[in-house]
Amino acid sequence: MASSMFSGTESLTLFSSKTPNGLCFNASTFHSKRIGFNSSTTNFNFSNKARVRHNSNRIVRTIVPKCSLSASRPTSQPRFIQHKKEAFWFYRFLSIVYDHVINPGHWTEDMRDEALEPADLSDRNMIVVDVGGGTGFTTLGIVKHVDAKNVTILDQSPHQLAKAKQKEPLKDCKIIKGDAEDLPFRTDYADRYVSAGSIEYWPDPQRGIREAYRVLKLGGKACVIGPVYPTFWLSRFFADVWMLFPKEEEYIEWFQKAGFKDVQLKRIGPKWYRGVRRHGLIMGCSVTGVKPASGDSPLQLGPKEEDVEKPVKPFVFLYRLILGALAATWFVLVPIYMWLKDQIVPKGQPI
Ligand SMILES: C[S@@+](CC[C@H](N)C(=O)[O-])C[C@H]1O[C@@H](n2cnc3c(N)ncnc32)[C@H](O)[C@@H]1O
Repeated sequence: MASSMFSGTESLTLFSSKTPNGLCFNASTFHSKRIGFNSSTTNFNFSNKARVRHNSNRIVRTIVPKCSLSASRPTSQPRFIQHKKEAFWFYRFLSIVYDHVINPGHWTEDMRDEALEPADLSDRNMIVVDVGGGTGFTTLGIVKHVDAKNVTILDQSPHQLAKAKQKEPLKDCKIIKGDAEDLPFRTDYADRYVSAGSIEYWPDPQRGIREAYRVLKLGGKACVIGPVYPTFWLSRFFADVWMLFPKEEEYIEWFQKAGFKDVQLKRIGPKWYRGVRRHGLIMGCSVTGVKPASGDSPLQLGPKEEDVEKPVKPFVFLYRLILGALAATWFVLVPIYMWLKDQIVPKGQPI
């Protein structure tokens, strides 16, 4: 059953309402592909008895909540690589091995196709922006459904983009350097906004999702794929040292505050994890929302959090970069450990 969690065959919807006790159900007690949140409320708490339904609207289970969707996340963790300059230098080196190290362990082609499915890339003529597109791994999934000439890859790292430029299926894509928090596209420009594995480096994720809303056309869809916060203490420690691992409910809140409707969250993960999410996942969910009205987002924000022009203290910067990169190596080991467990533990048993 665990392996079927990520098979793409099941789609359940969780109906929300308000409770004074906060968001509260045990994520491990249900095996959902997609969680739908009532976007009419920005407070997405759930009633004490949340109803889980199949697509057919048949109620299949009533769950009594036990805890939050993901472990609570401290607000004061260091997150040594969650700023634009840090991400720039991190990818200066990681880009050399990115496609060979990150994708096999965390972001496989199967996962990518599963994660892009809610984006409804249903027409080859759609205008699509892939924000934080990096080496173009996700874009390779997009151009299966949309003509490459209609797709723009944007990233702040020229080193990552240089890898994308070498890929034959992406040769007709527009490839541009830019910032996810300040997109160089006009308002109401695109039919689809896709961003995979980039939000964790944005100093202000809410601003990036607000930009996603702005650049989409009326009825356009945003699809943000990103990490989820670990519940295992050691993984939580390394996650907090490295970068932002949002909680599932944070994604939903960012989308709703930006103005998106029909906000959905689909869980993803490597097949050999058998649904285990306690170590967190670098690519753990695909969140989608639909733009209900043309024009800018209703959300007003103040000035940007990070001033990239501001000089940094070189030694402090280097120290942060090294510590952050060391913490990241934990997440190179986790998928190997999970793969070994998957080989050893008999199929059908939890790992
Ligand atoms: C984990 S990679 C993901 C690349 C690609 N989307 C994929 O699926 O393989 C994250 C990318 O986000 C980019 N990035 C980080 N912060 C950014 C920002 N503020 N604006 C644009 N790109 C950013 C990085 O340069 C990096 O290429």
